[in-house]
Amino acid sequence: MAIRTIRENGDEILKKKSREVEKIDDRLQILIDDMIETMHKYEGVGLAAVQVGILKRVLVIDLYDDKGPIAMINPVILKEKGEQEVDEGCLSFPNQFAKVIRPAEVTVEYTDREGKKVKVKAKELFAQAISHEVDHLNGEVFIDKIIPGTLEYVTPEEKKN
Ligand code: NI
Repeated sequence: MAIRTIRENGDEILKKKSREVEKIDDRLQILIDDMIETMHKYEGVGLAAVQVGILKRVLVIDLYDDKGPIAMINPVILKEKGEQEVDEGCLSFPNQFAKVIRPAEVTVEYTDREGKKVKVKAKELFAQAISHEVDHLNGEVFIDKIIPGTLEYVTPEEKKN
């Protein structure tokens, strides 16, 4: 496993749409392992492949609960319900946080890394993370949908307090 370089704000790749994964091969498994390791290193709850420079429809999420890290291949949001106003950040926008409106609940269908089709109904932080990461796969970043006036810059030193 290896830590991959995270593409940051201003990198044009973040605005590109990712392509469907057609084959779950060793290369994809390595990408998923690396994405999980990279997400953990930077203490993120989610990471999309585009953020490490790979335009494939793959994302990883870890809510640091008993579900453990989850990889979603070709995720499709089938249904959204309600709204939640949440504080949000993104590993591609270091030290920037803002309020965003996300669906309160999403139903998502994806292929897992073993090739099985999975359908999940997610709420709260899980719904927020899926919505945020699927946006990345469509070339959208959270900073373009924040509630105006809520953007804050928090330096790592301040964050520790
Ligand atoms: Ni992000």
